[in-house]
Amino acid sequence: MIESKVKKIGVLTSGGDSPGMNAAIRAVVRTSNYFQLECFGIREGFSGLIEGDYLKMGARSVKNIISQGGTILRSARSEEFKTPEGRKKAFETCQKIGVDGLVCIGGDGTLTGAKIFYEEYGIKVIGVPGTIDNDIFGTDRTIGYDTALNTAVDALDKIRDTATSHNRVFFVEVMGRDAGFIALNSGIASGAVDILVPEVKDSLDELFDTFMKTEKSGKSSSIVVVAEGEKLGSIYDLAKATKEKFPQFDIRVSILGHIQRGGAPSCSDRVLASRLGFGAVYGLMEGKTNLMVGLRSDKLVYTPIEEALVKRNEMDPDLIRLAEILAI
Ligand code: F6P
Repeated sequence: MIESKVKKIGVLTSGGDSPGMNAAIRAVVRTSNYFQLECFGIREGFSGLIEGDYLKMGARSVKNIISQGGTILRSARSEEFKTPEGRKKAFETCQKIGVDGLVCIGGDGTLTGAKIFYEEYGIKVIGVPGTIDNDIFGTDRTIGYDTALNTAVDALDKIRDTATSHNRVFFVEVMGRDAGFIALNSGIASGAVDILVPEVKDSLDELFDTFMKTEKSGKSSSIVVVAEGEKLGSIYDLAKATKEKFPQFDIRVSILGHIQRGGAPSCSDRVLASRLGFGAVYGLMEGKTNLMVGLRSDKLVYTPIEEALVKRNEMDPDLIRLAEILAI
């Protein structure tokens, strides 16, 4: 058994929740307990550290949560933790409990908080990428992305049924504030005629061109998938402009919204979360800090949090091309 460099581990979930966070919490608690380390769950992200809202967790306290969406520790975006005073209070809580290693599960805001906290107070931190957006560098997939994709595809398939019945054009918005990964992959998987993502500079002319082609090729219904963060305009602007150009189209708009954040995690997300939760604790035991644990080419890897924040996961141009080719 390795000799651990940390003795008491804290775990928190912060920012937008994602399906699989519970599986990650379970893995952190059980790995800690397996290696005879005490583990404390911090409620509501960094706010719980500031308020001293925590509980000691044992292997049984995480029973039956691997299949549950959301996060039993709850989540928050803490404004107070962005202030030096807030972080001082958070450090005092760590001192009180004796926590010397912190696992922070969440997206870029969570990673930023973890990094600053380590730099100011020296508490060892490992970030675990949990966000449906899949927009974190240093891992092939983030926790919750696969489940969100499946939810989006399920909804798009249902929209397809009604779109076909009524010969309609649907604009469907999927989540992704700054990233189009959900849009691109759910669009390909559901046979969208066009997919608009913030990473690609789109134009109305190109969109209209697509519709002209679909008309010529005899399509009676179409679905355009639009990422929430699309720069060309809001989904309502796009639908309005299309109606002006093609008055004969019967157009509807559908925004999938937060249903993409809930639900039971997929098998893939449960396994990913389990591996990353284990990797976070094991990394802390080895003395690692200021790193994010990820999975690349099916192997656990650690990336400096700084790098994970600064670099971007690039959109695969082959996938964008594929979407175009298959939409004829
Ligand atoms: O970051 C995950 C995410 O679901 C984004 O896709 C979305 O823009 C945002 O969170 C929504 O945040 P909130 O739940 O605070 O409205």
